[in-house]
Amino acid sequence: MQYQDGRWQIGGLDMAELAEQHGTPLYVYDSSIIERQVTRFQNAFSSFDHRIFYAMKANSNQDLLALMKKLDVGLDAVSIHEVRIGLEAGFSADNIIFTPNGVPFDELEQAIELGARLNIENLSYLEKLGEAYRSDVPCTLRVHPGLVLPNASRDATGWYQRSRFGIDRKQLEEARRIIDLHGIRVEGLHIHSSSIILDEAVFGTVAEVLLDLARDLPDVRILDLGGGVRPPYQPDDDHPDLDALASCLQEPLEHFEQQTGRKLQLWFEPGRYLVAESGVLLTRVNVLKEVGGRSVAGVDTGFHQLIRPKLYDAWHEVRNISNPDGPKQVIDICGCLCEEDDLARQRSLPEVREGHLLAILNAGAYGYSMASTYNSRPLPAEVMV
Ligand code: LLP
Repeated sequence: MQYQDGRWQIGGLDMAELAEQHGTPLYVYDSSIIERQVTRFQNAFSSFDHRIFYAMKANSNQDLLALMKKLDVGLDAVSIHEVRIGLEAGFSADNIIFTPNGVPFDELEQAIELGARLNIENLSYLEKLGEAYRSDVPCTLRVHPGLVLPNASRDATGWYQRSRFGIDRKQLEEARRIIDLHGIRVEGLHIHSSSIILDEAVFGTVAEVLLDLARDLPDVRILDLGGGVRPPYQPDDDHPDLDALASCLQEPLEHFEQQTGRKLQLWFEPGRYLVAESGVLLTRVNVLKEVGGRSVAGVDTGFHQLIRPKLYDAWHEVRNISNPDGPKQVIDICGCLCEEDDLARQRSLPEVREGHLLAILNAGAYGYSMASTYNSRPLPAEVMV
């Protein structure tokens, strides 16, 4: 969003007018930001044979998916419903990876029928896949990271160890037995990293772990590093630099190619990196009050429509669209649900009055897609500009 001629705009459109036209609360996505982010990602890895599969759990808005398709990005889906939504949006099945966990095997069978790619994360699915399809249906294997990272933060190491996803490395021998028994074609190896990982070198370590395993699996030609690349959520936010990340991968991949004669294709499944910054949630201030020593602006959205502050203590910048040049005041922005519903605390904003329009930024990823109808409120509208 830009401040121009005394007004806040998004994609060249006046935000106050958008709110008038469509009502609030309203999610607005700026397609030019998505294009910028996809281009940044593609450019950073242009020296690799690489493919991007957008993690559609971040936001599966139909117009947004149509844009991703136009930008030649595939999809990462985690439910059979996402697979079907992707197909309806015009993606070909071989451009959709399906990474389920805990779902009945029947969902995998449906995905196979539809032609989607499979990413297998446990021995139970692997066994069933082998028994039913033998070598007919190739898959990638999701490996449990279980990393000890000497130079990384405790949070990062803890995350890799606590993760419940993927096949534990202690069980890889058993996985190997199942693969050999049924002749399963394992085409690729996968580890997804959390967006709490800020150090690019960690992605290099993850690649080395996978490459080590790939040596003994002759059909492997894909290295899938998942998502978890974080864009900045505020101006000074620490986040991985894509060029630095790419250079951490260069050496291990070249080394593997020299040793084995196999050139691997690099896959990524970014979600938030591609869409978080494109979205704002517009909300109207309906009530101002002083209570319990706090100044509170009560707005017409809440954690039913943006759960990240409540669930993860996530920080989303808030701007006062209606009074851009007003004197600053410190205020809490609270949602309209009947329980603790703080969207932003102690923010210094241009003076807020009842009727003002606020924008909550970086709401393009895991905003609408995690929204619910709690308090029996309908879902908000979405527009793409
Ligand atoms: N691939 C796999 C296998 C994943 O599990 C995920 C996210 C992604 C890709 C995309 O990750 P991203 O690039 O968006 O970080 N609701 C949380 C995020 C949950 C992410 C779960 N997995 C949030 O609002 O921060």
